[in-house]
Amino acid sequence: VGQNIVSLKRVDSTNDYLKKQVANSKPVPEGTVILAEEQFAGRGQFDNKWLSQPGQNLTFSILLSPSFLPISQQFSLNIAISLAINDVLCSFIGSGCEIKWPNDIIFDDRKLGGVLIENIIRGTNWKYSIVGIGLNLNQTSFPASIKNITSMALIAEKEWTLNDVLAHLLTAIDRRYSQLKNGGLVLQRQEYRAKLYRLNTLAVFEREGVRFDAEIIGVTETGLLELKTADGVRCFGLKELKYI
Ligand code: BTN
Repeated sequence: VGQNIVSLKRVDSTNDYLKKQVANSKPVPEGTVILAEEQFAGRGQFDNKWLSQPGQNLTFSILLSPSFLPISQQFSLNIAISLAINDVLCSFIGSGCEIKWPNDIIFDDRKLGGVLIENIIRGTNWKYSIVGIGLNLNQTSFPASIKNITSMALIAEKEWTLNDVLAHLLTAIDRRYSQLKNGGLVLQRQEYRAKLYRLNTLAVFEREGVRFDAEIIGVTETGLLELKTADGVRCFGLKELKYI
């Protein structure tokens, strides 16, 4: 991972850039990284926009080809990537780092970064994954409309060198991806659970316009969030539920 880094000044979205290359059958080696100083159409989960001050933060995408895994295990890549980011952040800013299901990066109840993984499946084969990562490094002010957001600079009160943090992230991703390839799935699931934000705690959700409280009791093997609700234990996918 990271042998081939393409640095762009301005792009719509690094995920879309890679997606187009793959769609046009351009030969892109596995592990290629597309890094952008500025995205003018950065995307997050749930069709959210990903806004990032140009040049201040890391916004990049990696092309992976997890064809060694069955498509039923797509969530395992979310786990490996979140753990890799968590590994680096724990070493840089301490153990207050947690993973909010499915793969938000949280520090002290605030969002520090997010991951958007888009899988390209052909037939029953998992051909490619475009792993998009946005991590707030040096931005210290955010639009008022974005709640509970933070950056490494705000946490550590220092400025970070983007390329340095990127290099650590790519090494950690390489390590966690190899671990997954070499049978580390069960271990990674346990580690992910241990890092899960609000585990065994009440959290607020919204479903079909109705808000409710539920206790997070875990994540299933396929990546559903397991909740103890007033109606008993229920599991929900990303599209079925809004996590407030
Ligand atoms: C989220 O928190 O909802 C996920 C955010 C993912 C943002 C990154 S920035 C690089 C890559 N390109 C995109 O358009 N999105 C991801």
